[in-house]
Amino acid sequence: MALNALKDSPKDPKPWWESAIVYQIYPRSFKDTNGDGVGDLRGILEGLDYLKSLHVGCLWLSPVFPSPMRDFGYDVKDYEGIDPLFGTLEDFDTLLTATHQLGMKLILDLVPNHTSDQHPWFIESRSDRDHDKRDWYVWRDPGMAGAPPNNWLSFFGGPAWTLDSASGQYYLHQFDSTQPELNYRHPAVLEAMLDNIRFWLERGVDGFRIDVIWLLIKDAWLRDEPLNPNWDGSNPHEQLLHIYTADQPEVHQIIRSFRALFDQYGERLIVGEIDLPPENLMAYYGLAGDECQLPFNFSLIHTPFEAQILRQTVRDYEARLPAGAWPNWVLGNHDRPRLATRIGAPKARLAQLLLLTLRGTPTCYYGDELGMLNGSIPKERIKDPQAINQPEVGEWIGRDPQRTPLPWTKGPNRGFAPPGADPWLPVGDETATPSIETQSRDLSSFLHFFRSLSALRQSEAALMKGDYREIAIDHDDIMAYERSFADQRFLIILHFGGTPVTVPLQDPEIPLKLRLSTHPRSIAASLDSPLTLAGYEGVILQYPISPMKGRRP
Ligand code: NOJ
Ligand code: CA
Repeated sequence: MALNALKDSPKDPKPWWESAIVYQIYPRSFKDTNGDGVGDLRGILEGLDYLKSLHVGCLWLSPVFPSPMRDFGYDVKDYEGIDPLFGTLEDFDTLLTATHQLGMKLILDLVPNHTSDQHPWFIESRSDRDHDKRDWYVWRDPGMAGAPPNNWLSFFGGPAWTLDSASGQYYLHQFDSTQPELNYRHPAVLEAMLDNIRFWLERGVDGFRIDVIWLLIKDAWLRDEPLNPNWDGSNPHEQLLHIYTADQPEVHQIIRSFRALFDQYGERLIVGEIDLPPENLMAYYGLAGDECQLPFNFSLIHTPFEAQILRQTVRDYEARLPAGAWPNWVLGNHDRPRLATRIGAPKARLAQLLLLTLRGTPTCYYGDELGMLNGSIPKERIKDPQAINQPEVGEWIGRDPQRTPLPWTKGPNRGFAPPGADPWLPVGDETATPSIETQSRDLSSFLHFFRSLSALRQSEAALMKGDYREIAIDHDDIMAYERSFADQRFLIILHFGGTPVTVPLQDPEIPLKLRLSTHPRSIAASLDSPLTLAGYEGVILQYPISPMKGRRP
């Protein structure tokens, strides 16, 4: 499949998202400036210099729109405003301008699949079975004996249907019962959502991450979903195979309509949240490159951090990419346990090295640049509806631990909120994750490593946009690959085992230069072959540039 719109051409320079590092900010937990315990837009403004120092090029803000905050902003009651908790539209404009002045982009989080039940559209829809907005949502009569219309399940536990006793009908919601799903089979819904998008594009936002874009349209006949024969008994939502609530063929037309609008404004980005394996994911680039420029690739989230499995994961994803499509990689987000908790602290640096040297746009989750761990949340402070609605499985399914405040300093409230404020989630202590202040002073810190890595990536075309080639090194715990562009060539070697290992380099005659290691090493040191790597060490090595222009040694 050829993606005409994405074709490489010297006259047509690559769009900005092919070189930028994307950084996800969960605004509630970034920085609180007014002392209400919740992060705000002014906090992000104050943090811009820090963000710039990470060499990230695009900030993605989880939702900041007016919301009852039942799902912390993923339940929108007004798509064209800013929740007072976060600030004002004026604060937003100030932030956008300041971000642009620093040479960074800003994208927002669009939640088009569902609204809050407080959104005027739903209030009207619910008010009367004959209201002209009734069909903006998915309403159905009860099934047998008053049961829900079909067997669909909510991600947040229980049926995906709630009975509205006033009208005697059920409405559909795949998340909380306060998040009714819009009906994209009704043309006015799409038009209304396009108007909301236009509002922000006119204001100058550089794009959107689009929430659960692969769920936007459901089976027209609302057929029951089959049982999942491989269900492991843990997450109740996985009892069914989601063949009628997700990834429906009609979704692509909706995404194309979004994209056509974005394209009217120049280089505006759609990052699609799509939790599908690579074989289903690729369709979301669009047959003519006319859907998402970056359909989120969650394969590193689902893959165990072992060298041979990772190698296969990258090979499989790269092999399936349509011609001209640009890859992307993600390690974590606000829905998944923190990287350093999930794979263990020793491997967390390796994972960042992998993320920032693979071919494609990397997305970093706030705090992962510090090696931040999951916070511990006492039962009485659990906030996440996914946990609250499912007390039987809630503790492990809850997402609060990965959403705790960013630790700026060692001081009161770790500098996240003014002294005396009561942060919405516990701030964690310095021994678990040392603060930005502490790590900035320590040359062996995670943060120092991250900054060196992101600086190197952004300064070397081969790392930023070069070709990827797997290198065979005969050791189960080693993954190696080359990145090359014009006459530059880098060799990346990642060692996922815990004990030192000796790696034979392909051609010992060629003097390789060590550009970066996950471990403290003297960068000036010349490299000996065979190369000895410590447990969980990863390195970026550079080949010398051939004296004969354009030729590789
Ligand atoms: C995906 C978001 O990432 C998650 O946080 C949210 O709860 C659901 N979509 C519903 O909007
Ligand atoms: Ca605040």
